[in-house]
Amino acid sequence: MDQGGNYKVRDLKLAEDGRKRIQWAESRMQVLMELRKRAEKDRPLAGMRIAGCLHVTKETAVLVRTLKVAGAEVSWSGCNPLSTQDDVAAALADEGTSIYAWHGMSVDDFYWAIDKTTEFDPLLTLDDGADLIFRMHSTHKGKIPKILGGTEETTTGVHRLRAMAADGALKYPVIAVNDTETKWDFDNVYGTGQSSIDGILRATSVLLAGKNFVVAGYGHCGKGTAMRARGMGANVIVSEVKPTNALKAILDGFRVMPMDEAAGIGDIFITATGMKDVIVGRHFDRMKDGAIVCNTGHYDCEINLNQLAERTSKVTEIRRACEEYNLKNGRSIYVLAKGRLVNLAAAEGHPSEVMDMSFANQYLSLCKLAREGKDLKPDVYDLPDEQDQELARLKLETLGIEIDELSDEQRSYETDYSAGT
Ligand SMILES: NC(=O)c1ccc[n+]([C@@H]2O[C@H](COP(=O)([O-])OP(=O)(O)OC[C@H]3O[C@@H](n4cnc5c(N)ncnc54)[C@H](O)[C@@H]3O)[C@@H](O)[C@H]2O)c1
Repeated sequence: MDQGGNYKVRDLKLAEDGRKRIQWAESRMQVLMELRKRAEKDRPLAGMRIAGCLHVTKETAVLVRTLKVAGAEVSWSGCNPLSTQDDVAAALADEGTSIYAWHGMSVDDFYWAIDKTTEFDPLLTLDDGADLIFRMHSTHKGKIPKILGGTEETTTGVHRLRAMAADGALKYPVIAVNDTETKWDFDNVYGTGQSSIDGILRATSVLLAGKNFVVAGYGHCGKGTAMRARGMGANVIVSEVKPTNALKAILDGFRVMPMDEAAGIGDIFITATGMKDVIVGRHFDRMKDGAIVCNTGHYDCEINLNQLAERTSKVTEIRRACEEYNLKNGRSIYVLAKGRLVNLAAAEGHPSEVMDMSFANQYLSLCKLAREGKDLKPDVYDLPDEQDQELARLKLETLGIEIDELSDEQRSYETDYSAGT
């Protein structure tokens, strides 16, 4: 481990590899790069100290560099013990960013790293899963009065924060970046769809065509994953608890059934619910020999690995991010990435092109909080539709795609309630 005054990373010698990877991401994140160019002049985050807790990937590094160009001082930790790309962490440390993150850190190290990022008394916080913000509200309460606001990247984090707000426990304003259209409907659907399949393939290299592929949860992430698995020729089965989403899955052409039934049919299982105990002991008891099980929801509680361990006589690491559990019933089950986010722990997370819009939203939200945070009451805030449309317009421009525009007459038709048959 390499440690200095303001960093702790796996190996600083990896910095050059990390720089190349970041450069690759920058070449594919034109919207954020355009915002960075504008920030050079405006410096909208001058004087801001931002603590971030979000997967340390090449795309995150592009965001971190942008925040710095905009004038902020940044201190960073990863939001998952298995998702840090060590070369990217090394590159960030090497260019002077405070960063405390390495792949495979323990849970104690994880919270130690978060605590380190709070030492410079942040004015803004950026979360992916709400672990940093929760830590601010439990261990570092004394630092809260200075904080202007925070942002949250993922569905599970937004759920936690809305629950805190409903309970009167949230003490500063937070923007729900996840819930904006240019994030939720792209990152969670197309990003998770592609990268989760990527994670499964890197960890197993199995043929997807012809496999029974069970997706638990048909929300944003589940829909994307189901769609991409079908594209590879898998027979997709969906399990759900929400009637409307189960119906959507049916009308999208998937089989829907309870996990109790799917457990005995599936060859590959992936959870995408944000809920705990989606796959539990009785499901493992029914699974076929050789079944592969993984998760792409935020926390590692969706698959109950304790109940699997109770049924297991031996665990062997077969490949990177792939462990074989020899069950006492004579069968084997393969668990990927220890039940943590398979797309980030076994692959590289979402493609840069999709993170471009998510992180442009993060950047604009932090700028908004720097300007207006002190006037906002503690609550969870959504972003305005204008920001979505502006970002989507910018993204289309970078893709070289033009679209139609409403004429003045069409605009008045939109609000003319007297116009009928
Ligand atoms: N892997 C990634 O990179 C990535 C990216 C974005 C979000 N996420 C995480 O993925 C999870 C899902 O996010 P989302 O945006 O799709 O949320 P969502 O709310 O759109 O969808 C979740 C779905 O799961 C269903 N569900 C809940 N409990 C269930 C159960 N026991 N069995 C079956 N279905 C159940 C819900 O009814 C809902 O339809 C969250 O934890 C989120 O933070 C991961």
